[in-house]
Amino acid sequence: MKFTTILSTLAAATLVSAGVVHDFQSSVSNRVVPGGYIIEYEPNVTHTDSHNRLKAHEVEYKVRNEYNIFNGAAITVKSNHDGQSLASIPGVKNVWPIAVYSLPKSEKSKTKGTDPEVISGHQLTGVDVLHKSYKLTGKGIKIGVIDSGIDYKHPAFAAKGATAGCFGKNCRVTHGWDFVGDDYTGFDFDELNPDADPMDCAGHGTHVAGIIGGNALNIQVSPKPPQPFVGVAPEVTFGAYRVFGCDGSTGSDVVIAAMERAFKDGMDVINMSIEGGSGYKLTPEAVLGEKLIARGMAIAAAAGDNGDGGVWMVSDIGLGDSSSSVASFDATYGRYHGFKYGAVSRPYSSSTAYGQPIDLTPRAIVPIFDENGDLSDGCDSTVYDGIDVTNKIVLVLGDSSRCDAYARGENILDTGAAGILVQTTPYGIASLNGYPDVPMGAIEFQAGEDIIATYKKAPQTTVSFSKTEGDFYVEGGGSPSPFSSFGLDGDLRSKPDLGAPGGNILSTYPLAKGGYTVLSGTSMASPYIAGSHALYMEAKKSKPHGDVIRKAMKNTATISKSYKSKAFASAAKQGSGLVNVLNAILTTTSISPDHIDLLDTTHFKKSVKIQIKNTGKHTQTYTLSHTPADALNSYPDNTFPLSTPIVETDYATVKFSSTKVKIAAGKTVTVTLTFTEPKKGVSSQFPIYSGFVVATPSTKGGIPVHVPYTGMKGDVAKVPIMDRDENIPNIPGGNTGDSFPAMLALGGPDGVSRVSPGFSFRIANPISSKKSKDDSDYTPAVAIRLGSHTPDMTIRVFNASNGKFEGFLYGDNRGAFGMSGRNPTLFDGIPDVTVWLWNGQVVKAESASAKPKLLSSGTYTIVVAAQKKLSKGVYPADFEIYDLGSYHMTIV
Ligand SMILES: *[C@@H]1O[C@H](CO)[C@@H](O)[C@H](O)[C@H]1NC(C)=O
Ligand SMILES: *[C@@H]1O[C@H](CO)[C@@H](O)[C@H](O)[C@H]1NC(C)=O
Ligand SMILES: *[C@@H]1O[C@H](CO)[C@@H](O)[C@H](O)[C@H]1NC(C)=O
Repeated sequence: MKFTTILSTLAAATLVSAGVVHDFQSSVSNRVVPGGYIIEYEPNVTHTDSHNRLKAHEVEYKVRNEYNIFNGAAITVKSNHDGQSLASIPGVKNVWPIAVYSLPKSEKSKTKGTDPEVISGHQLTGVDVLHKSYKLTGKGIKIGVIDSGIDYKHPAFAAKGATAGCFGKNCRVTHGWDFVGDDYTGFDFDELNPDADPMDCAGHGTHVAGIIGGNALNIQVSPKPPQPFVGVAPEVTFGAYRVFGCDGSTGSDVVIAAMERAFKDGMDVINMSIEGGSGYKLTPEAVLGEKLIARGMAIAAAAGDNGDGGVWMVSDIGLGDSSSSVASFDATYGRYHGFKYGAVSRPYSSSTAYGQPIDLTPRAIVPIFDENGDLSDGCDSTVYDGIDVTNKIVLVLGDSSRCDAYARGENILDTGAAGILVQTTPYGIASLNGYPDVPMGAIEFQAGEDIIATYKKAPQTTVSFSKTEGDFYVEGGGSPSPFSSFGLDGDLRSKPDLGAPGGNILSTYPLAKGGYTVLSGTSMASPYIAGSHALYMEAKKSKPHGDVIRKAMKNTATISKSYKSKAFASAAKQGSGLVNVLNAILTTTSISPDHIDLLDTTHFKKSVKIQIKNTGKHTQTYTLSHTPADALNSYPDNTFPLSTPIVETDYATVKFSSTKVKIAAGKTVTVTLTFTEPKKGVSSQFPIYSGFVVATPSTKGGIPVHVPYTGMKGDVAKVPIMDRDENIPNIPGGNTGDSFPAMLALGGPDGVSRVSPGFSFRIANPISSKKSKDDSDYTPAVAIRLGSHTPDMTIRVFNASNGKFEGFLYGDNRGAFGMSGRNPTLFDGIPDVTVWLWNGQVVKAESASAKPKLLSSGTYTIVVAAQKKLSKGVYPADFEIYDLGSYHMTIV
């Protein structure tokens, strides 16, 4: 990561170092509040100092929020100042654009089973034992839920003896605030309408609160739950901090204000399940998160639901050094509609766009095969050419690397098919969006295999769908959820941290929306960890710092296998494993650190020391061992990571300075581990390997503890950053417009293409508005698509005739530089691309004091250069560089 510090001449009397502008460029998080900035001051600068300085620099602004623990403020700037000029003001340490977050689109389905503890996944995590045998309920612990609010009237949040919940003293929801109001969408300051009532209208926050501490065991009033269930800590109290309007977007400025308020209200734990994007740990939320943890709070954040995007995808909110990035595991039971085909009777999940069960007429199924005889992904309508599917149900593979369910549905429109079944890959039942009015259902992977086998023997076999729902054990229960995002982070640190049940989770929903629902997502897993913190604190009768609890949970988590795999799932997917709260509480051993980052071959940490502490009352002997896990190969011959990494059985080896250690009560022993990289993995394919180092106590029934390690074979400087498979970066052609559809960058559907070097652009002068924009102007744009992180994503402009560096392209009110996470694989069904529109300006330096400057008409060379990971950032040696050629630009 690059920190540029400049001596500014703006401070008249003293020389003061100026701040750093941060940029978030991934197109998902590309959504920023126009003119909105979060400013962090130097530690010795007060709010008053800062206002004086902003005024002295003639910044006209409105304060959106002022913070205290985070020494800074969020402002909307009305004058012509941008992030660069704000950072140049003395006393400013960091400037971030205000990012807009969305509530994750949780996947709906329905669940049922028998035992409420099983319904809630507690038999997988030891929480059932803590409830039944230890009578732990989280009593006395306060959990802040920063989300869409809580429907505090819900009977599942009733205080003991009451039949309905309430808000205030003696209620389960004791504290709260609505920072935003119903109409807030995250972008517009004027939509804010805060008040004291944190009632939930979106639903997400109520669901999350139910997972933490809802109690639907003995509800006598309507609506009754479809199945009794119980949250992890059914006697915690809540602070409900509402940061989402009814439609579910929020600004990072509001999230920071809510985090501070939760702290001031005395919350012990906060959990955040907001999707982020950049993959680096320097967002303002992560910065504040670290400060709050240092003051005793625990933070659990969702790892993200981009599991179908492949590696390098974890969300950034959980990336602080001590916060927990939480992965999801699937619960065991699901309630679904069923279908019968030959001997196969299995569940299916109807697409949300279709929204109803598939009709009951028995019909033949036609699996659609590609030229290799494999099930086709159905992404091209031509796969149906020459096949009679009239009135039949087609079966295709639900691989998400080329298209989504919308496209699959659209592709059968003209075929006469009666509907489409989609085989979930790699396993489980996907939740599909789908195409309106096209009957569509997701089925388990194995169900798809069985259908194909039956079809090959008896193609006339018909399928019948059930009208009612039934209970199914769903394949993959207890394994990491396919949707859960893979790490590592941009510094090759081991993330996510650990997992919790998050797939197929029944919980509370606002009464106005039916009272209960089943959702899936890492958003459902992070509150599970928040509730687990409460049980831990209650059991220990103390409130250890969040990183202490994280360590106990990581050390004792259950190392898990991927569904049907013999090997353990990668630590880049499951973190340390599925949380076992019982063991985290009972263990008398800890291992530090709680993750080992071996980095890449170039920076390989061959020798690593771990500390094993015996916190028990007796001397204990431990045996040390190594449990290897899957290696993930994402680059067999491509530049953008595979959406489903190839799993390789290729292991590192570990040598221990001693394999048996005897540790007296209360004492710590250091053990040196010597690692050797896996043998088979091909360095040029950058496999991410991982495993666990385990210390097993010799006492019968002693709880083993472990620490995950992750590493990458190969030179991280050579990991492709830009997606060359899509011929990106490039300069897209086509009409100018306010928004530039990403598909244009990909040579999209209407013959729109990239422009070639030598092309002439005409740009309306962005500063003197002598001429207004018209249709004959061509706004140049640069399309980028990052397959992995870069500490510094730059677009550089050079004078084409003498090669002089003119500056960094300036677009969207910021210079084209700064750290960036990768693009997701698809966005709305097409490859996700970030497009920088260029208005003819550049900034001279990657620094705070640089002001945008309009170039004169002329011929310029455009170069995209992304800094290699873990490098110092020296240009050009440390950059992946693409010369896009020279273009003529006329400013009119
Ligand atoms: C803050 O500290 C810097 C560097 O130590 C110093 O130059 C500056 O004057 C201080 N500012 C205030 C407001 O005290
Ligand atoms: C807790 O997790 C839920 C689920 O994602 C999330 O919506 C909520 O914002 C989190 N709470 C906090 C305090 O961040
Ligand atoms: C680019 O360099 C050439 C040769 O030095 C010079 O004549 C020209 O004015 C420069 N163009 C611009 C736009 O500065």
